Amino acid sequence: MARVSFPEGFQWGTATASYQIEGGVREDGRGESIWDRFSHTPGNVLGGDNGDVACDSYHRLAEDVALLRELRCTSYRFSIAWPRIQPEGKGPILEAGIDYYRRLVDALLACGIRPFPTLYHWDLPQRLEDDGGWPERDTAGRFADYAGAVVGALGDRVADWMIFNEPSVFTSLGYALGVHAPGRRDVDAFLRATHVVNLAQGEACRAMRSEHSGLRIGTAFNTSACEPGGDDEADAAAAERWHALTNVWFVEPALLGRYPDAFVTGLPADRMGIRDGDLERTRADLDFLGINLYNRTLLRHQGEDPNGLHVLPVGPSGGDEGEKTDFGWEVWPNALRDILLRFTRDYDTPVLEVTENGCAYGDGPDERGHVADTRRIRFYEGYLAAVAEAIAAGADVRGYHAWSLLDNFEWAEGFSQRFGLVHVDFATGARTVKASGRWYAQVATENGFEASLERD
Ligand code: FCB
Repeated sequence: MARVSFPEGFQWGTATASYQIEGGVREDGRGESIWDRFSHTPGNVLGGDNGDVACDSYHRLAEDVALLRELRCTSYRFSIAWPRIQPEGKGPILEAGIDYYRRLVDALLACGIRPFPTLYHWDLPQRLEDDGGWPERDTAGRFADYAGAVVGALGDRVADWMIFNEPSVFTSLGYALGVHAPGRRDVDAFLRATHVVNLAQGEACRAMRSEHSGLRIGTAFNTSACEPGGDDEADAAAAERWHALTNVWFVEPALLGRYPDAFVTGLPADRMGIRDGDLERTRADLDFLGINLYNRTLLRHQGEDPNGLHVLPVGPSGGDEGEKTDFGWEVWPNALRDILLRFTRDYDTPVLEVTENGCAYGDGPDERGHVADTRRIRFYEGYLAAVAEAIAAGADVRGYHAWSLLDNFEWAEGFSQRFGLVHVDFATGARTVKASGRWYAQVATENGFEASLERD
């Protein structure tokens, strides 16, 4: 058996997001978010579930921090709910809202856990959506004001921040495909939203730095290793275009002041609403790039496409031989190694953090109350070994965050998909550390593990 080990000081963390765990949606003046509206609209979320209570973390702060200690975490990635801070997305900040996060941060610091907040994990104040949402340019300025205000309030105790969570997911699923909040199906709205979010990222970064010096700022980008799903050269080119649109569409405007080549027909600048000088405003001097990765995507060239992308995702869903999680996502650890190395190569060895990686398996407590989720342990073994390989090959990866600390509200899937290292009984809120949680604690303590799996 080979030992898999990590550099000294490597951060071991878990990740969550406000709407997925907090509940308490009507407390202390919190405003309505697009996810409240969307989940309460029949037909949008499996089983009619919503985040009104979720894991009740708004009331179980101390218990959750105790779990992080039990899991021996050194870092906790959580998100701040914009409508708790500015119920309508503008105006003065609500002290009661900030106070919840200040108490959380102080509880983490008291036990030596790095607070690692994300400013936006998808809960836009509904009022801003009513005013046009992310496709509306004004939203960029609103977001920068919010980001500056939060850093003004918490920047004395939090140094490491993420601006966005998965910008390409919330813009595409929310505005083009309509399967996430706010549920719009309008390609032009999506294209404009991507540009406004890029502007917002640059403006927010500057607003944050003007509140505090010495911050380390990044974004958690969703990524997937994009591979050709056929032998044709055109398929390889299609995979590259998909990489451009889904993996680095929010990276290159920040780091390089340009959009990557995703469209055969060229950048749809008019449809995106790009104006003179915008690509200076999208620049953000990010200190690290957050990598969220679950799997890979296979792509083929598509002949007909009115939008000029000409890409058809063909897998790995459906009919594939490979191992899958209960969500149907392929288990493919090399995807994580490949993406870490690609970002290392393409952006001159940036500081990287794995900000999300994990798997949904439905295991629950047996009659003795044990959750024997051995498939999850195997999943993490494979993906962590892939991270170690990337580091050995030159990637500067500083930390890893398992998604998730808790089973929680999995967006359009409601409570049907369990990603936690800790099991949650959604009827009572009771938490039970799974076998994987105990295993993870040991890995964090030893900064490595003995691999029981062979790597290809
Ligand atoms: C990511 C999201 C996160 C969670 C996982 C499973 O795309 O960032 O909130 O739902 O997927």
